[in-house]
Amino acid sequence: MSDAGSEAVLLGEIFIDLPRAGPGDDAATRAALAKVPDLPPAPSIADLGCGQGTQTLVLARALPDARIVAIDLLQPFLDRLSASAAAAGLGDRIETRCADMTAIDLSASAFDLIWSEGAIYIAGYAAGLSHWRSWLRDGGTVVVSDLIWRVAAPPRPAVDFFQAMLPDMTDLSGRIAEAEAAGFRVVDTLPLPAEAWWDNYYAPLARRIDQLAATASPAMAGVLDACAQEIAIWRAHGDSYGYQFFVLQRQD
Ligand SMILES: C[S@@+](CC[C@H](N)C(=O)[O-])C[C@H]1O[C@@H](n2cnc3c(N)ncnc32)[C@H](O)[C@@H]1O
Repeated sequence: MSDAGSEAVLLGEIFIDLPRAGPGDDAATRAALAKVPDLPPAPSIADLGCGQGTQTLVLARALPDARIVAIDLLQPFLDRLSASAAAAGLGDRIETRCADMTAIDLSASAFDLIWSEGAIYIAGYAAGLSHWRSWLRDGGTVVVSDLIWRVAAPPRPAVDFFQAMLPDMTDLSGRIAEAEAAGFRVVDTLPLPAEAWWDNYYAPLARRIDQLAATASPAMAGVLDACAQEIAIWRAHGDSYGYQFFVLQRQD
């Protein structure tokens, strides 16, 4: 397995029982969904990089006739989503698919809506939008949440930390320009609130780091250390960056 593949498996082990695998919030998911234009009564939806599927379930509850294909690289996440969906009586409308979002071809799907919380960075924001555009029907919509700088001169430690993972990280106007260049109309953008970071993501993650640290293999210790560093950067510099939802309608 590649280094990236092994790291993904270790991340899966860390996050499998946590509420989310990235910052997010049910109310913010619903607020972004409310901005989506021209949804048909029974929309077809793809949720890319769905993780444990917290937002997948929010979408399925909010749209009682929607059919959702939830895609992730890690089968354990998908197993958890399938179990939660079945328990909530939503299993018949959520199909899980274990696949690499950068390798599958969904161009025949003509989705009404493509959703991706905290995961478009995997495909690259501009490249992902260009690619996913061809998976939408005319007038279909992409909704992503993505990390952006909120200040003109972000602090050096934060820039250095995010440089490796997110070399194309930019600010709100940069992301809007990239979406327009990729053939989308920017319907709206919404910031993710601070509690989406701490209550739903970093607080459970910090407890999990403490739980796993004592018995961690060297590889796991390295991944836990990177997670702890991410939390420390957020505590020190989190006001200089944040997640933003982008509601983007395909323009033809
Ligand atoms: C930051 S997490 C976000 C998860 C979820 N959307 C959320 O907000 O809680 C990114 C997700 O993308 C998945 N992932 C990573 N690389 C992927 C790939 N190449 N194709 C599909 N999913 C991938 C990870 O397993 C993880 O579940």
